[in-house]
Amino acid sequence: MSKIVYDELPLIIIKHNLFDAIFSLQGAQLLHWQPKSARSPVIWLSQNSLFKKGKAIRGGIPICWPWFGNSNQKDHPAHGFARNELWQLTKTVIKDDIVSCTFMLTENEVTLSLFPHEFKLYLIAELGEKCKLTLRAEVNFESTVALHSYFEVTSIQSTLVSGLGEIYCDKLATENIPQKIGSMTFDQEVDRIYQQPELVQTVMDGQRSIRLSQHNVTDIVTWNPWIDKAKKMADLTGDSYQQFVCVESAHLQHSFTSFNKPINELQVIIESL
Ligand code: BG6
Repeated sequence: MSKIVYDELPLIIIKHNLFDAIFSLQGAQLLHWQPKSARSPVIWLSQNSLFKKGKAIRGGIPICWPWFGNSNQKDHPAHGFARNELWQLTKTVIKDDIVSCTFMLTENEVTLSLFPHEFKLYLIAELGEKCKLTLRAEVNFESTVALHSYFEVTSIQSTLVSGLGEIYCDKLATENIPQKIGSMTFDQEVDRIYQQPELVQTVMDGQRSIRLSQHNVTDIVTWNPWIDKAKKMADLTGDSYQQFVCVESAHLQHSFTSFNKPINELQVIIESL
């Protein structure tokens, strides 16, 4: 395990017998994970991503907290501040079959100006043949959350995601009809919140399957910007929308944390099959 600085951001590089991985300390964001059994990375990272202090990294698994999407307050960053802040790596355990890293974020001047509450947010990452991510939030206030995972696919047009359930809220005006109930394919921009997902989703691109097992996740968000929106995003290249699909593990319908339930966890286990 080593630490480097890439442009403005510190990165943790892990090379293990069973996998390679990279984390950014900004956002406690997993940028790369590839088990040795997989022919290509499971997690997608944009070649055009910025590595600048306070700017979200495009790709990997950004943590959206303490709100998902746009805040109702002007000038507050989309998807919260957790992905823009520098976290601390507080614990590392290295074993033959697993590397476990605990990252922590707590309030500071910037977060208090956006969200006037003390909090502790932990990401516990257990990496090996599988990738298990547990997010734990401790705060006496309402929050929503998503692990905004970008998965690498050979082509978005040949990708099918199953296990989403049938009920979804479409964040776009256009319609993309699911090809099969509970599964979806992609032929245009997609931005949906599936509100009754199954416990397991599978992302299939014709070459391999990625299995996601969810715990305490109430919603799954599916997102791909497609060509026109991708062209307008400086941190994506023109055709890179073809190489990823976002399948996000979220807790949006009810508050993830609140006065009544100030400590909560969600978890996703990712496997490349
Ligand atoms: C998704 C949202 O989770 O993230 C989309 O549902 C949003 O509406 C997308 O466009 C990307 O967000 P950002 O802030 O990383 O560009």
